[in-house]
Amino acid sequence: MIKISNLTHIYKQADCGIVALNDISLNIHDGEFVVFAGRNGSGKSTLAKHLNGLLTPTKGIIEVDGLKTHLEENLWKVRQRVGMIFQNPDNQIVATVVEEDVAFGLENLGIPRNEIRERVDNALKSVHMLKYARFEPHLLSGGQKQRVAIAGVLAMKPKYLVLDEPTSMLDPKGKKEVIEIVRKLNSEQEVTVILITHSVDEVIYADRVVAMDCGAIVSDASPRSFFGDTKLLKEIGIEPPPAVLLSRELKNEGYNLKEALSIKELAGNLCSLN
Ligand SMILES: Nc1ncnc2c1ncn2[C@@H]1O[C@H](COP(=O)(O)OP(=O)(O)OP(=O)(O)O)[C@@H](O)[C@H]1O
Ligand SMILES: [Mg+2]
Repeated sequence: MIKISNLTHIYKQADCGIVALNDISLNIHDGEFVVFAGRNGSGKSTLAKHLNGLLTPTKGIIEVDGLKTHLEENLWKVRQRVGMIFQNPDNQIVATVVEEDVAFGLENLGIPRNEIRERVDNALKSVHMLKYARFEPHLLSGGQKQRVAIAGVLAMKPKYLVLDEPTSMLDPKGKKEVIEIVRKLNSEQEVTVILITHSVDEVIYADRVVAMDCGAIVSDASPRSFFGDTKLLKEIGIEPPPAVLLSRELKNEGYNLKEALSIKELAGNLCSLN
């Protein structure tokens, strides 16, 4: 479990600081798929960077399986447990051959060669990129590069995967590929996923949506109740997914319809109308 207790983060500026996170408390349980949503500047990335000790709290405590992230001696263990993926895959790929990139972190850990081979192959398999193992990363599409970056993190066998807008630079096909992989890692390999996204069509897959505004948590709910809270969504500047909007319009037209989160669900609801 990741336990966040009374976390405040103030970025030091010349005279006065910027309060990016203000007294946040939250638990992320093993196996969960948690999405963080909220407008630009609400504090999502700042929070993400606290989860593997890239930032340490100004006040409060973060514990990853009981390991306090502000203690220097825990950092190594914390970073092995919590893998991070950022927006731009180009900034995360360091080697000139895909498989060498995936092996990079493992070599630094001093893992034996035969185990490295096995872990690299398994990680590339998990992201459907094994056949690109000998490719040069610059020949890959953005979505493929992001999957290689994910493989690099997976090879370290993290328990938690934090992804900060991993699809925001990708086209619709690339987005879909990456999100499908992330969902599979959560459902089949029991990786706990913490996904930051502005795409409402990705929010619907979460167990929980944690909405942030002005450095605070303003909602912690299932996607269905989150998107059902029209007042909150307006306040934090989030538009519901198209299926929710369409369900509402049809309801206003007199159709006796339940609110659907996805087009697939909406189609099912429409088919069961009599
Ligand atoms: N390195 C930094 N130094 C100073 N202030 C920062 C720094 N990084 C972020 N901030 C400020 O902290 C606040 C929260 O920023 P953060 O990047 O966490 O937001 P976010 O929710 O990730 O936004 P976005 O959706 O745009 O990625 C903002 O006011 C931002 O300007
Ligand atoms: Mg951000």
